[in-house]
Amino acid sequence: MRFARFFAFALFAAPAASSGAAEGPILTPPPPLSPKINGPRVYGARPGRPFLYRIPCTGERPIRFSADGLPPSIALDPETGILRGTAPERRGEHPVTLKARNRHGATQRIFKIVVGDTLALTPPMGWNHWYTHYNRITDQLMREAADVMIASGMADFGYQYVNIDDCWMVKPGDPNPELGGPPREPDGAIRPNRRFPDMAALAEYIHSKGLKFGIYTSPGPLTCAGFTGAYGHEEQDAKTFARWGVDFLKYDWCSYGKVAPGKDLAAYQAPYRLMGGILARLDRDIVLNLCQYGMAEVWKWGREVGGHSWRTTGDLGLEKGDRLPGFYRIGLRNARLWEHAGPGGWNDPDYILIGWVGNAHRIDDPPQYTTLTPDEQYSYMSMWSLMAAPLFYSGLMSKLDAFTLNVLCNAEVIEVNQDSLGRQARPLRESEEELVLAKPLEDGSWAVGLFNLSEQERTMAIEFAELKLKGRQRVRDLWRQRDLGVFPRVYQAPVPRHGVLLVRLWPAG
Ligand code: GLA
Repeated sequence: MRFARFFAFALFAAPAASSGAAEGPILTPPPPLSPKINGPRVYGARPGRPFLYRIPCTGERPIRFSADGLPPSIALDPETGILRGTAPERRGEHPVTLKARNRHGATQRIFKIVVGDTLALTPPMGWNHWYTHYNRITDQLMREAADVMIASGMADFGYQYVNIDDCWMVKPGDPNPELGGPPREPDGAIRPNRRFPDMAALAEYIHSKGLKFGIYTSPGPLTCAGFTGAYGHEEQDAKTFARWGVDFLKYDWCSYGKVAPGKDLAAYQAPYRLMGGILARLDRDIVLNLCQYGMAEVWKWGREVGGHSWRTTGDLGLEKGDRLPGFYRIGLRNARLWEHAGPGGWNDPDYILIGWVGNAHRIDDPPQYTTLTPDEQYSYMSMWSLMAAPLFYSGLMSKLDAFTLNVLCNAEVIEVNQDSLGRQARPLRESEEELVLAKPLEDGSWAVGLFNLSEQERTMAIEFAELKLKGRQRVRDLWRQRDLGVFPRVYQAPVPRHGVLLVRLWPAG
């Protein structure tokens, strides 16, 4: 019965071995049977707007939830742990004590609802359809992704957004009757294509599980895949999204270049400033993700125009690897932008592509099991966590195997990503052979990633003086969730080829 949720799910997942792909070694012990509350400790919401939050909590179900100090406008379902209602009108911090109990034990922790103008106080987490379903996405596949987010346990670790990417609208001129047709209603309202019979019902389905619903459009006349964009209908489309129940918008530059008012900074900012302003006036909280591949140094102004995250690079799925797989190159570029991330505004190096994923160069091909080695996958997730990157899985939800889930769902690794201080790790050392990223955490500890970029195992070290730390440190291996001991000056250990050692350091005594 122990870990039933994890294993029950892994059983109905297709065996990875059937394709010749091999699952790697699982480093992380399964979560305890007693309840453990995960996810962010701070949560931004705007006054009086709809509020929805499913408490991420591992442990054997049934779990009974309760809360002290909950604002009266928000109700908690004790069985599902879903908080629902409206955010308080009073601006400022509303600390709530979340409690969870089952037959194995009980736990509680403080969850601060911060009512103000800032959303995404910690990096958004969820799933996005792009790298798996491309232009094949349907209402049914979105519902299944939401189902799996719950059934696999991902939601218990903090994953909450279920996001459609491109290709839900009409594709003007497409002969396929499922995709073609009039792009808008006579009054100008955007029309989903026939694969999405009722967007509001889809949103309602996702919300019924306590999860959130994200959507995608472009400020240009057409999206990247040639579907209908928002150009000339920005306000109308944003209001439609709010009416449907959208919680997240990815706004992808694409064909906007053809209609942009120029090539100066103001022109790069214009579409995002427009949409950012519109969303800020809506009576619904919608997190805005700027997707324009890092043009005009978006990290310097993404927040000011209303963005909560901004892609810093081109598409990860299109990135050519060299000696190292593409995610290292994207990750390195993103890592250097560490000073620009913080609560409410995050550098976005694109999605987590592991497990079964499609090929962005040949989108008609069926998903294949990742060719990244297990060590490379641990490095990928470690880098994204240290960089306080939005954590969006974009692989096939219906075929999640135990190894992929293990990489995606380590509570101590995710805690580094979701830390309330909201700092992105700084590159301490960077060379052909190694990368060291270090991130200060709210409790005064540090998370450090020692990445071996070389072709053979290598002993890597973190000297505490590099972090200006005085005295002995208690060191914990976050992937193995194991204390390594107390060390006076330095911690060092062998790190496998393309692998990582992810540790957390606390002052000892
Ligand atoms: C661009 C974006 C991708 C994806 C596609 C959809 O390439 O960068 O993330 O949204 O468009 O067409």
